[in-house]
Amino acid sequence: MTISADYTEKIPNNVDLHEDRRLQRALESWQPNFLNWWESMGPTLPTEDVYLRTAINVGREGWAHFGHVAMRDYRWGIFLAERDPDRRIGFGQHKDEPAWQQVPGEYRADLQRLIVIQGDTEPASVEQQRNLGATAPSLYDLRNLFQVNVEEGRHLWAMVYLLHAYFGREGREEAEQLLHRNSGSEDSPRILGAFNEETPDWLSFFMFTYFTDRDGKYQLGTLKESAFDPLSRTCEFMLKEESHHMFVGTTGIDRVVERTVQVMRENDTDEVVAHGAIPLETIQKYLNFHYSVSLDLFGSETSTNVANYYTAGIKGRWAEGRRKDDHRLTGDSILVDAVVDGSVGHNEVAALVGLNTDLRREYIDDCQNGVNRWNRILGEAGLPQRLRLPSVAFNRRVGAFSGIETTPAGEVIAAEEWEARKGDWLPTEVDKTYVRSLMQPVHERGRIAAWIAPPRQGINGKPFDYEYVHLA
Ligand SMILES: [Fe+2]
Ligand SMILES: [Fe+2]
Repeated sequence: MTISADYTEKIPNNVDLHEDRRLQRALESWQPNFLNWWESMGPTLPTEDVYLRTAINVGREGWAHFGHVAMRDYRWGIFLAERDPDRRIGFGQHKDEPAWQQVPGEYRADLQRLIVIQGDTEPASVEQQRNLGATAPSLYDLRNLFQVNVEEGRHLWAMVYLLHAYFGREGREEAEQLLHRNSGSEDSPRILGAFNEETPDWLSFFMFTYFTDRDGKYQLGTLKESAFDPLSRTCEFMLKEESHHMFVGTTGIDRVVERTVQVMRENDTDEVVAHGAIPLETIQKYLNFHYSVSLDLFGSETSTNVANYYTAGIKGRWAEGRRKDDHRLTGDSILVDAVVDGSVGHNEVAALVGLNTDLRREYIDDCQNGVNRWNRILGEAGLPQRLRLPSVAFNRRVGAFSGIETTPAGEVIAAEEWEARKGDWLPTEVDKTYVRSLMQPVHERGRIAAWIAPPRQGINGKPFDYEYVHLA
């Protein structure tokens, strides 16, 4: 395998695509469909070019190239992390056997399903974010939005490559369907609920990239452990790109909080609306919403399907290699979140069945880091307010808590009380209308909207007032 990407090919790749003419032809015939999808469902703001990074190498040093490119000419390609010829399976009943280079017949349907579900989220987020360019708070933010968008497009390529290369005719049909389903569509929506919600404003975008892209990070982390080596190597490289998406979310919310804090202090008031900033209560409500819908993406607290995936070696745990147990889990147990005697509590179940809960907990710990960061900004400004992650049971529509309602603190309440109070905890029409009213585009070089602080640093050593995007 060559490590550097081949950009002389129609489809840039590091998988020696030219050696498999059939596969190459199949992907080359999918390519125009992808470009049509990008034109019709991708970013709506017309641009000349954007300062983007493009993957040129999957190695540790210098994997990215930065330059102004017309988005339609972005070199979407197929990049897998380097192959370890000695790689062995790390968990489940096939533990210590050599990793699979082909799909075992008995796991074919399950592997295909997991790849399709992951693949479906990638273009979905591009669709959800397509109108945001028109209201970008700065050229720097606009560029970051487009970088996330082109990389989600590349992640679709990553999954489509696997479907074409390893799943035959059915795989090619699934690859077509990935372009036919659309976020929010009545007839053929995206597979997962959170990916049919719109991303109507930039506060939602930052919350999405913080909380929902982070779900993606954890799902990719479990697939990176897969015994199916091409899937593992694909996900490993996707995770590298994904870390920039997390960065956009983390620092985006940092900057919103920073600006609000600044306005609160300068004017010695909590009433920041008059000054065009976003109140902390509104930030908390958006956080509550995006966090709770992202928790739903991890599925039910217990799942026999996921137990089977683990035992089969298809899907591991987050940081499987760092876990100090037998990596088979056949005799272990775990306490999962549950409704116990009408309140939020725990049930003990077999560890294998509770793997969704295990992954969700890793995710929750990670989410808490961001909240700590934002609270540090409040603390350093001498303000007493703090942001919080709501209870795992709050506003859930999937799993053990879907049948109950709780306060953000996790106290179970009746449906009527929920109806009466939910506007205190989740964004109301008034909140959303206010946030949307702030979304006036700032497309002039070096300028920024009043509701967000400028970034500490630009991209790739460039200053904040660099011309990151040339509008058409
Ligand atoms: Fe992605
Ligand atoms: Fe992402």
